[in-house]
Parts: sequence; structure tokens; C-alpha cells
Amino acid sequence: AIERTLSIIKPDAVAKNVVGEIYSRFEKAGLSVIAARMVHLSQQQAEGFYAEHKERPFFGDLVSFMTSGPVMIQVLEGDNAVIKNRDLMGATNPKEAAAGTIRADFAQSIDENAVHGSDAVESAAREIAYFFTDDQLCKRTR
Ligand code: CMP
Repeated sequence: AIERTLSIIKPDAVAKNVVGEIYSRFEKAGLSVIAARMVHLSQQQAEGFYAEHKERPFFGDLVSFMTSGPVMIQVLEGDNAVIKNRDLMGATNPKEAAAGTIRADFAQSIDENAVHGSDAVESAAREIAYFFTDDQLCKRTR
């Protein structure tokens, strides 16, 4: 089915100047960018986005990393977009990520792991709405 998913290129990957290389992987896999913006997240924005992790021991480090520099946030659309994006990203911990995945190729550690992607269609809808209004999601023209 055609799905949408929220993708974030995190501060480590933006700083490495690999936004274009990561976009290229999305596009080669048949995913289209239908909305995008670059933001330097505030603490409040990062805490709200990751609210489900509030009680986890890594929450403080996660929020300080995600606010350490600009991120590139995009909505990806395509067939099975949620799982397709997760396959492209690889495991959360880059040490466990399969060869050729974004995290294997660009990430350093479980904290600085290059990209975020929604883990299910339901969380994708919530995460997309956190950053974009409906009228900011463009219709594909092909
Ligand atoms: P992300 O997909 O952005 O969702 C939460 C982030 O927390 C995750 O990627 C990791 O970068 C970070 N994190 C740090 N430690 C852990 C951990 N032990 N388990 C899961 N996520 C972690």
C-alpha cells in the first residue's frame, strides 16, 4: 500500500554534509520526498517529539544531541514507505546495522545514528502531524 513516513536526518549526518546522499537512497528505493524543512530544534520541540522516551535513561542525551545542530525533516511517500525506510536505515545501533544501510555507512553510535524513521503507520501519522500541516504535504505529480 502507498504509505507516508516521517524521516529526520539528524545533526551528525547534516554536519557530515550527506543530506544529498541520503536523499538519493530514498529516491533510488522508490520513495518520494513530499515535504521537507531544515530546522534547528528547540529543546521543547525535541522533548515533545520524543515524549514516548521520556522515562528512558538516554532521554536527556537524546534531546541534547537532537538540539545540537540543524536537522533535515522530510515526509517520504511510496509503496510500504514505513518498512522500506526502516530497511534503508538499518538497525538503531549502527554496530548492528547491515552493510549498505544508512546507519552502517554514516552513523557513529546508537546516540549519533544519522537518521530517524517512524516505526509504524500510526506513529508516522502522529510524527508527520508534529512537524507538518496537511497543506504542506505535496501531491506527487508522477
Ligand atoms: P530514534 O529512531 O531517533 O529514536 C530514539 C533514539 O534514541 C534512537 O533513534 C537512538 O538514537 C537513541 N537511543 C539511544 N540509546 C538508545 C537505546 N538504548 N535504545 C533505543 N534508542 C536509543
